[in-house]
Amino acid sequence: MIFYFSGTGNSRWVAGMLADLLHDELVPMAEESSLSATYSWKPGEKVGFVFPVYAWAPPKLVLDFITRVKMEKPEYLYFVCTCGDDTGKTGEVLVKALKERRWDCQAGYSVTMPNTYVSLPGFDVDDKDTERMKVQHAKARVEFIADELAKKVRMASFNCHEGAVPFLKTYVIRPFFNRFLMSPEPFRATDACISCKRCEKKCPVHNIKVEAGGPCWGNHCTQCLACYHVCPVHAIQYGNRTEGKGQYKGEHLK
Ligand SMILES: Cc1cc2nc3c(=O)[nH]c(=O)nc-3n(C[C@H](O)[C@H](O)[C@H](O)COP(=O)(O)O)c2cc1C
Repeated sequence: MIFYFSGTGNSRWVAGMLADLLHDELVPMAEESSLSATYSWKPGEKVGFVFPVYAWAPPKLVLDFITRVKMEKPEYLYFVCTCGDDTGKTGEVLVKALKERRWDCQAGYSVTMPNTYVSLPGFDVDDKDTERMKVQHAKARVEFIADELAKKVRMASFNCHEGAVPFLKTYVIRPFFNRFLMSPEPFRATDACISCKRCEKKCPVHNIKVEAGGPCWGNHCTQCLACYHVCPVHAIQYGNRTEGKGQYKGEHLK
């Protein structure tokens, strides 16, 4: 079974490819119904978690899911995280959450995908050539990962692109990021908004309601930026930090 979370489609695409190659089933972590179910495993069944990297760690939604999900201890557990650049100590943070449940993690991988983070100065989506190249490389990478998982590889250290100063990013910068940069408050729609409700439909945690004056954000936002990227008229902004930035449409995933 493959539990996945995806805001803008990259991790859903990776999870879908893995499910095809491993003949496995997908379960969305963002749906409440996935938390009300109880999971038990056939002998030898593989259990995977696929998700994006947010601030060099798994998204809070994924860590909360691990805390709350009702399931037997898996015999073989792995994760695949998708990132725009680098993962920092994502694997370590995930392992800590798994340990609370007394579960072990046998394998972990990262897949570099087009970047979706645009909410801070200096961060923008990739140019179209980089997007295309990243997806092309990712296909081969996911095939390699599926091959290893089919053999139930057990790793001493994870196969993730941690990047430079991973400890500093995950344990020093991330708490600051979570404290000051995760609020949904700066989200706004400009006059260009056509109330098409695509943001409402796309929000993986059902946190947006489009009313007479346009979209309204509730307070359980995951900062996945799906609303920002899906808007067909680029009307959604995060304060003034996203003005002039690009949108990610996932066109190479289709
Ligand atoms: C809030 C947020 C934080 C992010 N932080 C990181 C990061 O720390 N490192 C990185 O390489 N990419 C980061 N990214 C980029 C995403 O991890 C990457 O684009 C991912 O593939 C998006 O997956 P999704 O389309 O399944 O949501 C971030 C994206 C968002 C929205």
